[in-house]
Amino acid sequence: MAEALPYVPGLAGVPAARTSVCLIDGEVGKLEYRGYPIEVLAEHCTYEEVAYLLIFGALPTKTQLDAFSAELVAERGLKFRIVDVLKTLPESGHPMDALTAAVATMGMFYPGDHVADPDFRRLSAIRLIAKVPTIVAAWDRIRRGDDPIKPSTELGHAANFLYMLDGNEPGPVASRVFDVALTLHAEHSMNASTFTARVVGSTLTDPYAVVASAVGALSGPLHGGANERVLEMLSKLDDPSAASVRRWAEDRLARKEKIMGFGHRVYRVKDPRATILQGLAQELFDQKGSTPIYAVAGELERQMSELVGDKGIYPNVDYYSGIVYQKLGIPTDLFTPVFAIARVAGWLAHLLEQLEDNRIYRPSQVWVGEADRAFVPLSDRG
Ligand code: SDX
Repeated sequence: MAEALPYVPGLAGVPAARTSVCLIDGEVGKLEYRGYPIEVLAEHCTYEEVAYLLIFGALPTKTQLDAFSAELVAERGLKFRIVDVLKTLPESGHPMDALTAAVATMGMFYPGDHVADPDFRRLSAIRLIAKVPTIVAAWDRIRRGDDPIKPSTELGHAANFLYMLDGNEPGPVASRVFDVALTLHAEHSMNASTFTARVVGSTLTDPYAVVASAVGALSGPLHGGANERVLEMLSKLDDPSAASVRRWAEDRLARKEKIMGFGHRVYRVKDPRATILQGLAQELFDQKGSTPIYAVAGELERQMSELVGDKGIYPNVDYYSGIVYQKLGIPTDLFTPVFAIARVAGWLAHLLEQLEDNRIYRPSQVWVGEADRAFVPLSDRG
């Protein structure tokens, strides 16, 4: 029998796939999608271009992008029965649970052989990228007692989501800022939800079950759920003075409590996406005015750098994203669903890559229990 490999908690540093989708160098804060630096993609591309790049491996030509965007627009609508499913859910439930339910339901309406049929695989990817924003916006409307707003056929992917929330077409600055935020969250190599997508996809189940599973993984507070908690955490820090923020951070660290929005399994420096999100926040502040919470966030970042910077604990993508989303008028409990709206492209890119050279995931284990125990009948158990 092959020599047992050592157990590594959380599979930290253990390669789980051969991939060409996303490259991260955590020591220097480098992030690339299909070989392109995130800074270049954030500055020059739309989310539609980035989704195309992730799924098909190359940046689209104008013709390819126009066709891809038209396919996304054509698939934005929801089956009325899926809207009915959303209407049956408790309005107090978390939007990530509503998204999981609705995406899983899609699999019942769009059956097909995504493994053998490349055209069906492509259509499934289009449907998921196109419909996830509509599901999130529809849920937000329904839980408030309003009818869902029909997706626009004119607006881009990012602007259409903001439009579906309240029926108002966002301005150019808000549209562009949100579009870049989607690009920043679109992919990030072997994170927990993407690994989930690959594991579930390796069983050859349908893409809707894969994405519903990944949504579940993303919703956890140690992963995508952190962005919502960062804002809640910062809003409790009512005294932005350096002394008060430092005391707060020292108390939490002393109690070994995780400070949301900080730390990362891979980055040992500040997450490059956090830096770009700070720039986006500034763009919004220039247009809509600043927010006191941003000053608190900056002070906490300075204090954390002094306290735990030597341990490689710096802001991650979730630290500033909530401040941008709040300024865009997005409700706090939609922050993680917005993460899913972006990340669905990355999940699908990894699913398609997994299917190209698939072997079902089935890792081993380190046995720490008892074996070959003597059975004692119930009547004889003391
Ligand atoms: C995302 O993987 C990805 O790529 C994810 C993501 C993506 O795009 O998909 O980047 C998105 O999920 C970002 C992370 C969002 N989560 C949070 O902000 C939650 C807070 N962060 C931590 O829970 C933590 O940093 C993790 C979960 C992100 C990483 O956890 P690890 O790598 O398992 O690190 P660890 O928990 O083992 O911590 C190592 C040490 C510990 O101290 P010691 O016991 O060694 O003394 O660092 C400390 C931890 O206490 N530490 C923190 C901390 N993060 C790590 N201490 C305080 N606050 C923190 N946030």
